[in-house]
Amino acid sequence: MFSLNGLSKAVLSAVLAVTALTVHSTEAASVIPDDVSLPIPTFEPVYDCSFRFPPNLSNAWIDGPLGRRAIFRFEEANFTDSKTGELVAKLIPEAGGGFGINSTVDAKFYVDAIMMIQFVDDHEYAYLKVNGIGGLGPKNGSSMRVQMETGSASRQALAGNFLMFENVFLPANVTPPDESIAYFRLFQKRAIAPLVFRPPGRLLSRAMTELLVYISCRNISLSHNALNVAQ
Ligand SMILES: *[C@@H]1O[C@H](CO)[C@@H](O)[C@H](O)[C@H]1NC(C)=O
Ligand SMILES: *[C@@H]1O[C@H](CO)[C@@H](O)[C@H](O)[C@H]1NC(C)=O
Ligand SMILES: *[C@@H]1O[C@H](CO)[C@@H](O)[C@H](O)[C@H]1NC(C)=O
Ligand SMILES: *[C@@H]1O[C@H](CO)[C@@H](O)[C@H](O)[C@H]1NC(C)=O
Ligand SMILES: *[C@@H]1O[C@H](CO)[C@@H](O)[C@H](O)[C@H]1NC(C)=O
Repeated sequence: MFSLNGLSKAVLSAVLAVTALTVHSTEAASVIPDDVSLPIPTFEPVYDCSFRFPPNLSNAWIDGPLGRRAIFRFEEANFTDSKTGELVAKLIPEAGGGFGINSTVDAKFYVDAIMMIQFVDDHEYAYLKVNGIGGLGPKNGSSMRVQMETGSASRQALAGNFLMFENVFLPANVTPPDESIAYFRLFQKRAIAPLVFRPPGRLLSRAMTELLVYISCRNISLSHNALNVAQ
């Protein structure tokens, strides 16, 4: 006989078992079918960049409806090859600017900037549109999506790829009093295998099933090449 206590324990175990099953089946049931391949993207460094801004960055803000917009002045930046350390491009300080919004809602920093650079070898320009999220501290830099537009012939693969910046601002106490320093690293997405569909096993077996049903309903005979159906 069940005591009330025993019964509620039984009910509880049953509920837990059902919950466990539900959780398990949620994990097992994938929205994306097994025969669709969507690889996790990986990135490789392209350029290492050192940026110089004016001191006391926090003086350069505009209060707006979304938060405080930073109007950092880009004074100087060197873009170097991440592998060789060779100088690749220099920032054009007179063009571009902004930096983003310090949100009044979640205190996160929403990067929104435009940078113009010039490559040192072919003297072509590049326009970089930068949007991201993070912070401005030495421990909470931002991750940014970078869109590059350039006529530089040797950078077309870069301009046609998905680019990312990671950055960090140095703490004020380790930078000279008359400047602010930040480091950026530009990454490009590694080439990945194209989207792959496995041989359509399930479709084939459905087609076979339909054919068998069809055969069982009709009197068919095979001639040389054609499938003849006798009514
Ligand atoms: C950029 O490179 C020049 C030449 O090497 C150097 O004098 C300058 O300090 C560098 N600027 C930054 C922001 O690293
Ligand atoms: C930067 O701020 C510090 C402290 O607020 C101040 O002592 C210094 O004069 C400022 N420097 C500039 C160039 O405004
Ligand atoms: C951003 O705003 C928050 C308050 O909303 C403030 O605590 C923080 O210091 C600000 N960050 C910067 C870099 O000014
Ligand atoms: C980032 O760190 C600074 C201090 O380094 C802090 O003031 C700020 O609130 C942090 N921002 C975020 C979004 O975590
Ligand atoms: C199938 O067709 C053949 C030739 O048309 C006929 O001789 C045979 O009796 C048919 N069989 C059935 C089960 O209808």
